[in-house]
Amino acid sequence: MDSLNINILTHGGIKKTSVLLSGGNVSALEPFDGRVDGSRLLIPSFIDMHVHFRDFEQKGKETVGTGSMAALAGGASAVCDMPNTVPPVDDKETYERRRSLFSNDSLCDYLINFCVYDDASLEEARLVDPLFIKVFLEETTGSLILDERKLEELFKLRKPIALHTHLEGMREGIKLSKRYGTHLHICHVSTKEEVEVLARYKDENITCEVTPHHLFLSSDYDVKPPISSERDRRYLWGALGNIVDIVASDHAPHTSEDKERGAYGVSGVETTLPLMYTALNRKNITAEAFCKCMHLNQGALLSRLGRRFGFKAGGRGDFAVLDVGSKALLDPSSFFSKAKHSPFKGMELDARVSETWVRGRPFFVDGKFTEYAKGREIEKDSI
Ligand code: NCD
Ligand code: ZN
Repeated sequence: MDSLNINILTHGGIKKTSVLLSGGNVSALEPFDGRVDGSRLLIPSFIDMHVHFRDFEQKGKETVGTGSMAALAGGASAVCDMPNTVPPVDDKETYERRRSLFSNDSLCDYLINFCVYDDASLEEARLVDPLFIKVFLEETTGSLILDERKLEELFKLRKPIALHTHLEGMREGIKLSKRYGTHLHICHVSTKEEVEVLARYKDENITCEVTPHHLFLSSDYDVKPPISSERDRRYLWGALGNIVDIVASDHAPHTSEDKERGAYGVSGVETTLPLMYTALNRKNITAEAFCKCMHLNQGALLSRLGRRFGFKAGGRGDFAVLDVGSKALLDPSSFFSKAKHSPFKGMELDARVSETWVRGRPFFVDGKFTEYAKGREIEKDSI
């Protein structure tokens, strides 16, 4: 049994709270009247819903070990791994191999996705139970593009789908989600037009995410989808927490040599939470919108998909503690990720992650991983 008296960020602002943890869960959350350390701020249950931890044959870019250390150092208690690996996670055997790789090597908790891009992988998708079936409808790292005419067959399986797409593919996905009642998650929206279509047609079966690089960056960078225009960027900030459900890093690590050759992707799992906190601290986003897009909506999405996640009385004891008393310049050379480059290099951050807790235990404390740091797959909700 652990107890902490600490400032917690809630949608109504910062609240002094007494947190009681037992058996991996939050057993009680009570208002607290005494003194707390003003430099410590608890951020509930951040899960990075879009990471590429590579491994298999691309260990030079990232391994499950280094990626999961980077996640904990970035304040994420858990991650959701994307399947465009080499080889791709496109059959039951590779899916099970991915699960045992994470079970052996991941320091943080995790969920695994599966990729469908041809007839064989579509058949195999019937045999697995991933969080999402990931579908690419346009070119990016890995070239696993599904012919749009096969999309309907996939939606008929009624397994949750995460879609990397252009505007037309998104329209098609929305139509099919409504026809078959299949959950559709749109990855990394980046334009005003996409958000407008979602605003019009979204229902409880349709969710979407935005990345920090599409929110913060105004100069170009090699990434898919491309960096947004100023008009789009402003629009995305306004849609955060309402039309745009969640922020996810799309952590896409590459070696420095591959980046120099133009590989697409941002090394982002370590910087998402500090960047978003900085936006909150500078009043570019409200506490309400922050809490929605950084943990409440992730919790709601996972609960809809039958997984137990989310910091509340009776819920899992997952959280990060930020040190909000010191400023730092973002320095990718200090990343735990193998991809030690960042388009945010040199940006001033208003906080650093000092602790990350998973299932009621501290996994990461002041730059070090503890004896508890051993990841598990986020289990199916038994209720
Ligand atoms: C991702 C990658 O490298 O795996 N790259 C990227 O630019 N986002 C693939 C993807 O999510 O599109
Ligand atoms: Zn991605």
